[in-house]
Amino acid sequence: MVRLLDKSVLVTGGGTGIGQAVALAFAAAGARVAVSGRRAEPLAETVALIESGGGRAFAVPTDVTDESEVAALVREVVERHGRLDIACNSAGVPGSGRKLHEFGLDDWRRIADTNLQGVWLSMKYEIQAMLEQGGGGAVVNVASIAGLVGYLNAAPYTAAKHGVVGLTRNSAIDYGPQGIRVNAVCPGPVLTPMLEQARRDRGPGADEFYLRNIPLGRFCRPEEVAAAVLWLASDEASYITGQALGVDGGWTAQ
Ligand SMILES: NC(=O)c1ccc[n+]([C@@H]2O[C@H](COP(=O)([O-])OP(=O)(O)OC[C@H]3O[C@@H](n4cnc5c(N)ncnc54)[C@H](OP(=O)(O)O)[C@@H]3O)[C@@H](O)[C@H]2O)c1
Repeated sequence: MVRLLDKSVLVTGGGTGIGQAVALAFAAAGARVAVSGRRAEPLAETVALIESGGGRAFAVPTDVTDESEVAALVREVVERHGRLDIACNSAGVPGSGRKLHEFGLDDWRRIADTNLQGVWLSMKYEIQAMLEQGGGGAVVNVASIAGLVGYLNAAPYTAAKHGVVGLTRNSAIDYGPQGIRVNAVCPGPVLTPMLEQARRDRGPGADEFYLRNIPLGRFCRPEEVAAAVLWLASDEASYITGQALGVDGGWTAQ
């Protein structure tokens, strides 16, 4: 089991789904965890789950599209934990079920502002904090198989997730000399509230589309993504940076 005793960890999108599973896994490994997201209630649930298991966590409601809120979030984590060792950027919104010409500019802005610009803003302040404490640290972005290959009827989402993989690779180069590793996980369909929305957006035939593309023949569980995030963030992956790791049941092997 990966041990991350007393590490200071920030998880954006930590109230639900993959982010919640990541936060729980980090806390179980001994880390001190900060979770953020827009809504206070799901964040409080994550904190309560961690504390009931004997772990340590606090929540900072934050919108990743707002630069001043992201800056304040990272400032608060550093103030309360003394430093920031690991960041997992999981905040995101869905966007599928239509072809490129059928999305509106408002859809594009919502998807790109959160899924791409939000990751960039988060990384900007997280990495700045790591640099100010003398370097070292790990960032794991939650991209998607849509960051590696085309994804039927999801052009803005696919563009944003390819952008997250680009940010990941570029930052690995830029901050490698300071010992900051930056990687991404690229999950296939995971059983979370977002997948429920995507199933509704894609309509009848959604599950047939997903399952026919997954060699393992089943959906991913959030805990299976969390395990990959923990490993990438840990010293077990000390020579791994700039990678986009499929956690996809074989989707992108085809
Ligand atoms: N589920 C899948 O099949 C799948 C597959 C590949 C990749 N992913 C990626 O995995 C990540 C997590 O998604 P999920 O599946 O766990 O879905 P989810 O349960 O809906 O989680 C998304 C989280 O992001 C937060 N969020 C959304 N907009 C935000 C904003 N502007 N500022 C701050 N937080 C925001 C949400 O909280 P609030 O609404 O409270 O802000 C929510 O907790 C996303 O980046 C998604 O693209 C998911």
